[in-house]
Amino acid sequence: PIKAIGASDIRDRKGGTPLVCLTAYTTQIAQIADTECDLVLVGDSVGMVLHGLPSTLSVTMEMMILHGQAVARGLKRALMVVDMPFGSYEESPEQALRNAVRIMAETGAGAVKLEGGQHMAQTIRFLVERGIPVMAHVGLTPQSVNALGGYIVQGKGSDRQRILDDATAVADAGAFSVVLEKVPAALANEITAAIDIPTVGIGASVGCDGQILVIDDMLGLFDAFKPKFVKRYAHLSGDATEAVRQYAQEVRARSFPGSEHMFADGHDDA
Ligand code: KIV
Ligand code: NA
Repeated sequence: PIKAIGASDIRDRKGGTPLVCLTAYTTQIAQIADTECDLVLVGDSVGMVLHGLPSTLSVTMEMMILHGQAVARGLKRALMVVDMPFGSYEESPEQALRNAVRIMAETGAGAVKLEGGQHMAQTIRFLVERGIPVMAHVGLTPQSVNALGGYIVQGKGSDRQRILDDATAVADAGAFSVVLEKVPAALANEITAAIDIPTVGIGASVGCDGQILVIDDMLGLFDAFKPKFVKRYAHLSGDATEAVRQYAQEVRARSFPGSEHMFADGHDDA
């Protein structure tokens, strides 16, 4: 059997072949992602993508654990990382540890991810020293959307040093990898050169050590809106809408079900 990928394997990929990462929230999609991905993230984007919530702010521990358990059943090889939801880690390192332990114990995740740079460094170190691999997330941090004033590019102009300091702080604190979201490409390249852990970009730069996308976005399944950084590799929403249209037409015309979908009396049909 192929050895499953761990957080230290991801860390060792710094500067190597780019890391392939996607989100997943269900067993079936996890199985598909696992065929190619090094890392599968159970993102708190699940709240917006699968539950119709307006932001990630109301995502709960229970939602992350339930989706984490579903994803775990679909993975054989990729490292599973579960997002810590808003409010589950900011209060203290102890609160973060308690919730990270619960996520890992109840889902089997190999690591957790949390948002924040310099101000979360102490918490990251606290978790790492206690055996919990942490992926950090800096730049645009969606759980802070209200403080940031929207889903806007971070680290432009005089704000550049802040993001660089955030990335350096989480690397120094022992994170095994860091997501860079929605930052200028030149800054993402500068951070990638400056720190010794892999950078995983989303709306960052092709020069990052890896890339991640929300799988429903790249499949064209979630199409309520499309951020500039999303590339659609399929158009499943359109395919599904067409399938439903055809089914409705066949039901109304009594052309579905066909004889092959119905049962005869007195047969050995199941
Ligand atoms: O929740 C999520 O899907 C994420 C990725 C986009 C990095 O945090
Ligand atoms: Na997230």
